[in-house]
Amino acid sequence: MKDLFDKIYRDKGPLGKWASQAEGYFVFPKLEGQISNRMKFQGKDVITWSINDYLGLANHPEVRKVDAEAGVAYGSAYPMGARMMSGHTELHEKLQQELAAFVSKESAYLLNFGYQGMVSTIDALVGKDDIIVYDVDAHACIIDGVRLHMGKRFTYKHNNIESLEKNLERATKMAEQTGGGILVISEGVFGMRGEQGRLKEIVELKKKYNFRFLVDDAHGFGVLGKTGAGAGEEQGVQDGIDVYFATFAKSLASTGAFIAADQEIIDYLKYNLRSQMFAKSLQMQLVVGALKRLDMLKTMPELKNKLWENTNALQSGLRERGFDIGTTQSCVTPVYLEGSIPEAMALVRDLRENHGIFCSIVVYPVIPKGLILLRLIPTATHTLDDVTETLDAFEAIRERLVNGTYKRLSASVTASVDK
Ligand SMILES: Cc1ncc(COP(=O)(O)O)c(C=O)c1O
Repeated sequence: MKDLFDKIYRDKGPLGKWASQAEGYFVFPKLEGQISNRMKFQGKDVITWSINDYLGLANHPEVRKVDAEAGVAYGSAYPMGARMMSGHTELHEKLQQELAAFVSKESAYLLNFGYQGMVSTIDALVGKDDIIVYDVDAHACIIDGVRLHMGKRFTYKHNNIESLEKNLERATKMAEQTGGGILVISEGVFGMRGEQGRLKEIVELKKKYNFRFLVDDAHGFGVLGKTGAGAGEEQGVQDGIDVYFATFAKSLASTGAFIAADQEIIDYLKYNLRSQMFAKSLQMQLVVGALKRLDMLKTMPELKNKLWENTNALQSGLRERGFDIGTTQSCVTPVYLEGSIPEAMALVRDLRENHGIFCSIVVYPVIPKGLILLRLIPTATHTLDDVTETLDAFEAIRERLVNGTYKRLSASVTASVDK
C-alpha cells in the first residue's frame, strides 16, 4: 500500500514545482511598510500595483484611528462564540442594516470571510434536487461551494450568454424531473481579467427561465455604480440579483464579507449558513471598522473619483502604447504578454529591481500556456506620476521581452526545472 504522502514527495503540483525559484519573490513576497501606493520590497522602494485597496482606505488616518480605538475598546476577542449562541451584538445588526440599505436589499448577514461565506451560501441555497449553472471562470470560492452540492451542476462558457441559455435549457428539463430549482452564479467583476459579468443579460433571461441569481461582487462593491453599490447598480439590475455577495477585503480594506437579499431569504440563511453557525462571530473591531469604512464610502465620493482617474490614465496609457489589456470593464488592469514561465520570472525581476514596479504575475495553469499576465490594481492612493513611471517601465520591459533578453537570462532556470 502507498503512503499517503508519496504523491506529495513525488509531485509538488503545477505551481509548487517552481517553489525553489519563486518563493519569497514571485509568490509569498513580503511587502513592507504602510499599505499605500509605494511600499518596500526587499529593501527597495516600489510602486505597488498588487493590493486591492481600491479606495485607499487601508491606511487612511480616519480609518486607522477608528480601528485603533475599537481595538482598545473591544480587544480582538469580543464577542465570543458564534452569532447564534453568544456572538451577536447591536453593532453587528447595525452594520447589516446599513449594508443592506446601501446595496438596496431588504436584509443582509455578515460573513467572517468571503471565501467560506460563499462556499456556505451556495451550500445553504441548494438541495440535492436543485441544479447549479455557473460561469466556468468563477472564483475558487464559488467552485468550492459547488463542490459541496450533491445534485447536478453545469458550467457555461465564460460570460457567454448563448452557452448559459443552452445550459439553462438542460437545467430546466432536469429540474422538471427532479422537482428542484435552478441557481445561476456569476461574478460582478471577474477579478483576474476585469470584465464585468453580463448581469443585465442574465437577469433578462429570467423572463424566459425560472432561476435564482447569486452574484459575487468582490471587485465591484465600492468601485462600480453611481453610489459604489457595485456591478448590479452599474448595470441597472440590482433588483434582479436575488442574492448579492461582497467582501470587505477589497474596497473596504478589511476582513469580513456579507450577503444581502430579501428578508425571508436572509432569515433562512441565518439559520442555515454553516460557516456562521459553527464559527466564531466576526470580531467587533472589524464590525466597527466596517461601519466607518462604509460611511466613508458613502460620504467621500472623491475616493472613487480618484480611483477612476488613475484607472483611466493607466488603462488608456497602456492601450495607447499598444499593450493588450483585454476586455477589462473595471479597475482590474491585466496586461497580456507572450512568453514562457522562466521569461516571465526574468521580466518581473527586471520590473521590480530596475524599475521599482511591483505587480502580480499570473502564469499557466491559471491562464493558458505561453501567456504572461501582469495584473495591476490601481487605487485612490496612486498618483498620475506613478502611472507615467509605470507606463515607461512597461515599454522598457516589453522591448527586452521581444528582443530575447529574458529568454537568455532565464535559460538556466528552464534547464534546472526541466531536469
Ligand atoms: C471574486 C472573489 N470572491 C471571494 C473572495 C474571497 O473573499 P475573502 O478574502 O473575504 O475571503 C475573493 C477574494 O480573493 C474574490 O476575489
